[in-house]
Amino acid sequence: MTDHHHQTDAASSNKEESAAAYAAAYAAAQPDPGHRVVAVEIEACEFDWEFVPGVTTRAWGFNGSVPGPTLEATVGDVLEIRLTNRLPEPTVVHWHGLRIPAAMDGTEMVQRPVGPGETFIYRFRLPDAGTFWYHSHFNETVQMERGLYGALIVRAPDEPVFDADRTLVLDDVELDKNGQIKPPGWWIESHDGREGSTRLVNGRQEPEIRMAAGQVERWRIVNAASARYVLFSVGGRPFKIIGTDGGLISAPVAATRVLLPPADRAEIAVGPFAAGETLRIETLPFNRGSFKSHRKPELFATVQVGAAAPSRARLPDRLREIEPLVTGPVTPNREVRLGFGLGLKHGVEFNIDHEQHHHAEPVRVGELQVWDVVNRSPVHHPFHLHGFFFQVLELNGKAPEFLSWEDTVNVSAFGSVRIAWMPDDRPGGWMYHCHILEHHAAGMMAHFDVVR
Ligand code: C2O
Ligand code: CU
Repeated sequence: MTDHHHQTDAASSNKEESAAAYAAAYAAAQPDPGHRVVAVEIEACEFDWEFVPGVTTRAWGFNGSVPGPTLEATVGDVLEIRLTNRLPEPTVVHWHGLRIPAAMDGTEMVQRPVGPGETFIYRFRLPDAGTFWYHSHFNETVQMERGLYGALIVRAPDEPVFDADRTLVLDDVELDKNGQIKPPGWWIESHDGREGSTRLVNGRQEPEIRMAAGQVERWRIVNAASARYVLFSVGGRPFKIIGTDGGLISAPVAATRVLLPPADRAEIAVGPFAAGETLRIETLPFNRGSFKSHRKPELFATVQVGAAAPSRARLPDRLREIEPLVTGPVTPNREVRLGFGLGLKHGVEFNIDHEQHHHAEPVRVGELQVWDVVNRSPVHHPFHLHGFFFQVLELNGKAPEFLSWEDTVNVSAFGSVRIAWMPDDRPGGWMYHCHILEHHAAGMMAHFDVVR
């Protein structure tokens, strides 16, 4: 449960000020010349969903499906989303990874939650190409677990050409014996976060994906699970990593697996395969320090390779230029401590800088931020910064394998990550938190202002 700390803050921040910030952001959201306003309506509602064939589950989702509709647009377009809440409780929608004005970020820091029966309009220009997603940012261990999430794809005019562009939204749910989603648990679940035993791709249990032989596809993978780390593999075959949270990386990177902590995205170039092959899309065993561990690969989907089809895919050697934010030695200007303790409310209580719902120092527009995110706990945490991309400078003291733009990064148990980011001119209330939903709910989050 996103608790009352947020609300107190939202209430104490000047209501007129936030209304004015919203109105200004709304008016400033204009499409680039030659671009359009992509208007969509999404309704958060309750409905019956078949996660498992033959079993209906009461789900919460957008427009009667899990995931909600995949929103697609081009850089320079304006996305205008009219959200209507048909749920029995309030909700807000967060646009994960998008560099949009604070007033449109969809958190309780910047808006009043949208009550049952109410409507709210989000409107913003899309500044970056990439694989993003949207999800409820209210009572997430219930609302996101029941299905309130969807993919958001932004394309640039000059993207590399593939034979297909496929989005795979991964999730897992824990169903009770009547096929209903279990309510949030305590103790082990508050420590580990929930890893459901029913694994889903695009809202279906272990589906079959058909692919033509000889073709190369672009897969956009989103990990929408509450707590599960996915070590993604396609039958152990080599593929190329071409993008991360903030779009394309500078050059393709060969790999046979890619780690996606909760909320993370990866884009990979997959194939070509031979006709008649069957490949298992799996998560490989990965130890994140949780009580429950995985010793065997677990299936997410199966790829069936059909008859050959001609390929027009061309993967260039260079995908785009990424300027490093930092060259040479730097002194970090903030340490973010991820810690934990024991408490009565959640069992295990995760915190930031020894505080639940920490109030962090503001940052100033135009001042480079170099942060050491230090994990003082025995479990991994996916650290997520709202609204801004960062570059990873060091992972446990070593330079990362490649330069990229990120909004979510894994901080391993007792490890640390050094990140750099530049607050551009989008003042307002922002936050950073662990994206394991149970940890976030327990208070492993901080909010701060970007000020001019
Ligand atoms: Cu995707 Cu504050 O989260
Ligand atoms: Cu965590």
